Amino acid sequence: MPAVSSGAGRRLLVVTGKGGVGKSTVVAALGLAAAARGLRSIVVEVSGRADVARLLGGRAAERMEEVELRPGLRHVTIERRDAAAEYLREQSPGPIPGGILARSQAFGLFVAATPGLAELLSIGKVRELTRSPRRAAGRPGYDLVILDAPASGHALALLEAPETFAAVARVGPVARQAREIDQALRDPAFTAVVAVAAAEQMAVSETLALRETLSAKLGCELDRVIVNRVLDTPFTQRDLAALRRAEGVEDDALRSARWLHARATSQLEQIARLRAGLDGIACETLPFMFCDELGGDELDRLAGLAGAWLP
Ligand SMILES: Nc1ncnc2c1ncn2[C@@H]1O[C@H](COP(=O)(O)OP(=O)(O)OP(=O)(O)O)[C@@H](O)[C@H]1O
Ligand SMILES: [Mg+2]
Repeated sequence: MPAVSSGAGRRLLVVTGKGGVGKSTVVAALGLAAAARGLRSIVVEVSGRADVARLLGGRAAERMEEVELRPGLRHVTIERRDAAAEYLREQSPGPIPGGILARSQAFGLFVAATPGLAELLSIGKVRELTRSPRRAAGRPGYDLVILDAPASGHALALLEAPETFAAVARVGPVARQAREIDQALRDPAFTAVVAVAAAEQMAVSETLALRETLSAKLGCELDRVIVNRVLDTPFTQRDLAALRRAEGVEDDALRSARWLHARATSQLEQIARLRAGLDGIACETLPFMFCDELGGDELDRLAGLAGAWLP
């Protein structure tokens, strides 16, 4: 198993984790932190999603359009059909223009019916974004590409696709390109896979399973785990003693205090379980933000914390 590296020189951050744990929020925070540090960065979302763009108040963009969200921070949404069209445009100067081929129904069916092809095209586009200079002239180069990857299982399919294709194709340009993408993804000096987790039983189990599968299938180690929405118990030992003395007394404030303490305690237990299973992989926490909806202030605060975990 490769050593957990310090992260210097990385260009690609792959952020994954269980559904709903806060991947997009963490990606937004990392993107803001990267831009604040002066890195030319881009956040990438796949499968036509634009959750991070929405969080950061970005305008609705054409798919594959690299839109500026903040000075130094761009966003792009990759949809497999568009990734296919772009790939064909760049690779096939032949008699049928790639765009026409990619829009054809037969090609759409072919992409949908070939296991892993959609994933290969999407991750291939992500790899292209990390190049500097870019394949197509006139496109900006980036210091850091942050992928808001799908939930763990689908993220693994995305990361595994290049190797699968390289093995099947064996020779020729597709095999060569797939192998090159695979190498970049497995190179801990280039790619960091970050897992977002929640301090809950299922999310912790899924994070530990993700670590094992990543290691077994890709020979990669998680770069770090970020436990999101961690409750900070405001209670001192004296408060807790007072709470115990008030056992049996029922009022709303006491009920809330007991609930908060019980939740925070259970979270600490889950974080301890997670840390024990991670064998020394960095495990960070982000606080639960008490608000109706995360806005600019909350994201800035999360970005201030997440900045320390940038490559
Ligand atoms: N630190 C936090 N404090 C409070 N609420 C948070 C925090 N992080 C995320 N949330 C909220 O949790 C919900 C899920 O967050 P988010 O959309 O980032 O998760 P996700 O993992 O990207 O979800 P999906 O798997 O659907 O892509 C959102 O309502 C978000 O506002
Ligand atoms: Mg998301």
